[in-house]
Amino acid sequence: MTNISFSQAFSPENFKYNTQQIINMLSEYLQSMHEDFDTKKVLKSTNWESILSECLSPTSSFSNDWQSFVQKIIDYSQHLHHPNYIGHQVAVPLPMASAIDLVSSFLNNSTAIVEMGPIHAAIETKLIEWVAQKIGYGGDSGGFINAGGSLGNLMALLAARQVKSGYDVWNDGIQQPLAVLVSDQAHYCVERATQIMGLGKNGAISIASNRDFQVTRKALDLSFQEALKKYRKVIAVVGSCCNTGPGTFENLQIIAEFCKEHDLWFHVDGAHGAPVVLSEKYSNLTNGISQADSVVWDFHKMMMMPSLCTGVVFRKKENSYMALKQHAPYLYSNEKTDDWQAISQRTMECTKPSMGLKAYFCLRHYGENFFASYIDYTFDMGKYFADIIEKNSNFELAVIPQGNIVCFRFMSNNGCLDTLQKAICKKVVQLGRFYIVNTTLKDKVYLRTTIMNPFTTKETLVKLLSHIHEVATNLQKENIQ
Ligand SMILES: Cc1ncc(COP(=O)(O)O)c(C=O)c1O
Repeated sequence: MTNISFSQAFSPENFKYNTQQIINMLSEYLQSMHEDFDTKKVLKSTNWESILSECLSPTSSFSNDWQSFVQKIIDYSQHLHHPNYIGHQVAVPLPMASAIDLVSSFLNNSTAIVEMGPIHAAIETKLIEWVAQKIGYGGDSGGFINAGGSLGNLMALLAARQVKSGYDVWNDGIQQPLAVLVSDQAHYCVERATQIMGLGKNGAISIASNRDFQVTRKALDLSFQEALKKYRKVIAVVGSCCNTGPGTFENLQIIAEFCKEHDLWFHVDGAHGAPVVLSEKYSNLTNGISQADSVVWDFHKMMMMPSLCTGVVFRKKENSYMALKQHAPYLYSNEKTDDWQAISQRTMECTKPSMGLKAYFCLRHYGENFFASYIDYTFDMGKYFADIIEKNSNFELAVIPQGNIVCFRFMSNNGCLDTLQKAICKKVVQLGRFYIVNTTLKDKVYLRTTIMNPFTTKETLVKLLSHIHEVATNLQKENIQ
């Protein structure tokens, strides 16, 4: 290991020179993803053991060639900028957002309290005000940015527990079994949140979705009755906007009315779909969102931000304080301060990076319409993909998609369709021309795609379908069914 002085490590010249090299490598990478991407694999290798062996111990020196290491990291990463990446709901980050993230990490200001990062806390506040306004909340709303939708859902449900249980759970602990109603198609983090909250294994009561993978009023009533039968007090209903697996948007108005009737907290998990409010063409999918008590909105999904950046917004600002009610004299004085000056009174994180800066910057830099057109484009592509799947008798859709998540399967007259879909998915990922995933919906295995890349075109989707057809045909020849 070479001996490096602090002055060398913090040298502005070295920083400029080294960063420029990293920027050059990333720019070349970006260019290759736009020009000759069809000759490049989306995922270089699925041999996890060999990848592990590529990574030496953190104490082994680069021997003055850290550049090769950075290039290796680029090469072995999942290539989200590749237009044939059509897998999970991970954003294709806007290059400028990543550049601004460097400013955040370089300055390393926390947004816990205003003194630790004054302008960063102010920006977070402005970003949350914008989210609240887009959702349709009034002036007395409020919230914060935190690390991810899973954590955001937990925070909102903790607030629901405090407000709707009828006693001071934070101080006295749970006195009576509680329950949260949530669709059987929701993201797993909701159930995880209820277990973390001490509601137990049956604390999240599944609302049975219908054939279209959506919740109905009747199903809501049934799950409410089920909770009562189990002597559980229902505190909240979670409406998915949209459900992760099938990508279906719940009718939020039905859930809002139900919550009003039963005096329940209405939480919208809009990790994927809340930003759809920006789109004139598709915002009807989010009708009713403004009636929610709380909404989670991920910028690192449908807003093209690098991970993580999640808005957690409450219709009533006072409720944003309900999840955690602690006193920390080394951070907060007893003097009354404006709430934006002590964001960490409301967040799980203490030290919290300036996560909102990239989103705030890009909104100002590119404008709201840019993001609306991204949603329109990816949702239009979802519809187009569904169209060509429907017209092809070799395939079957799980459900007609409402957005950019499309689930379907290859049909075969013999053998187990589920095994075949899994084998197709594995082979497609191994071959590396495309990246897709699979999921189980109502006991059937489907191939699952999410169109996240604004450079994924109709042509890409046509090619994907014929690639899957070819892979499936070959697998069948090998007797894998
Ligand atoms: C509807 C929904 N909620 C929550 C999450 C989890 O969000 P995060 O990955 O930001 O924790 C996801 C992730 O896919 C999701 O689709």
